[in-house]
Amino acid sequence: MLRKHIYKAISPALLAGIAITTTSCEEAENEADVPSLHEAFEGLFLIGGTLSDRMILDTSDPGYAIAEKHFNSLSPENCMKWGRMNPEPNVENYELAETFVRYGAANDQALVGHTLFWHSQTPDWVYKDEAGNDLSREALLARMRERATLMAERWGDEIVYWDVVNESIMGDGSWRKSKYQQIIGDDFTEQAFRIASEILPPNAQLLYNDYSMTDAGRRDAVVAMVKDFKAKGLRIDGIGMQGHWLMDFPDTKDIAESIQAFGSTGVKVHITELDLDLLGRASFFGADVDIRAIQVTPENNPYPDGVAPPAEEERFANRYGEIFETLVANADHIERVTFWGITDKTSWLNHFPVRGRTNFALLFDRQYQPKPAFYRVLETAKNRKE
Ligand code: G3I
Repeated sequence: MLRKHIYKAISPALLAGIAITTTSCEEAENEADVPSLHEAFEGLFLIGGTLSDRMILDTSDPGYAIAEKHFNSLSPENCMKWGRMNPEPNVENYELAETFVRYGAANDQALVGHTLFWHSQTPDWVYKDEAGNDLSREALLARMRERATLMAERWGDEIVYWDVVNESIMGDGSWRKSKYQQIIGDDFTEQAFRIASEILPPNAQLLYNDYSMTDAGRRDAVVAMVKDFKAKGLRIDGIGMQGHWLMDFPDTKDIAESIQAFGSTGVKVHITELDLDLLGRASFFGADVDIRAIQVTPENNPYPDGVAPPAEEERFANRYGEIFETLVANADHIERVTFWGITDKTSWLNHFPVRGRTNFALLFDRQYQPKPAFYRVLETAKNRKE
């Protein structure tokens, strides 16, 4: 409760300062005139935001005013990953996650546990015994059980949505050849859901989360997996489509098809990590963090001062607009739409695929002001089916 008072006391004061010093938004010059995003989408789906570690550490970050006003769900960008929490076997870094959970719970935001099991950001020690040899299948499953137990004991009451497994299916529909898969076998994802359903509270919503979910092979494999789990009586409550999308890809028709394919299995769809890469990527698509970062050049970093030309903002707004029109039209299947970040200032797309680039990804700019895309998204909420 104390923490809540700190945030509440700081953010309006900071916000007043910001309103005086910035004029980037013509539609509403006063913060009070800016409509709340989550209120606009009430009855359609939850609207979420994501807190970086840096923001969680800085209680004076003006982004908190945005988080409180516009988002009724919150995700942690990094602090709940296994490698962050336990980089070494006996190191316990739980404070950031604890702060995140206390903050979101005090604000009544539906919290996301991101992520229980992911091939990336899982430290090597997890797979090894004391002698440095790979664990047996049973020993690794036991270790996964310990992690789920720790999460449930600490935050089981507050967290609603759990990304149980992140990214275990490849674009062609095969299982990712991760260390988990090598040790446990092709039923790694199934075993993870068994562990989560036994250990997390009965009302926890268990999600499978992945990127490029419009790839036909991955889409079909996810649908088949959900049906298989359900046939076995195993809980799975939602599919997370990350939504790290580009300006011209994927087609909204394909986004709609995936939403409908997942929704038709009886689970809810969550857009879990939505952002748009305005600057684009030359030769690949996806969010695979194994891809090596390339160098910044004037060609791939055209707006280093953080201001995009109006025509680019318009193009960006239109793309967000067509995506949200698709989401609203398919709202029956969708439980939540979460943006991966709060403002462009700290978006991961400033570092991926090109480290140190000044990118444009979200609805709020580097001065914490709503961009034209914010208003374009807001308009789409009016197109709801009656
Ligand atoms: O905090 C350290 C800093 O101390 C250090 O100086 C700096 C040097 O590189 O690194 C900082 O950590 C980085 C961290 O982001 C915070 O910025 C890590 O190197 C970097 O690997 C980490 O990247 C995160 C990535 O997941 C890997 O965990 C991104 O922030 C985060 O946005 C991204 O999120 C993933 C989702 O979890 C799953 N879906 C894909 C999505 C995008 O890759």
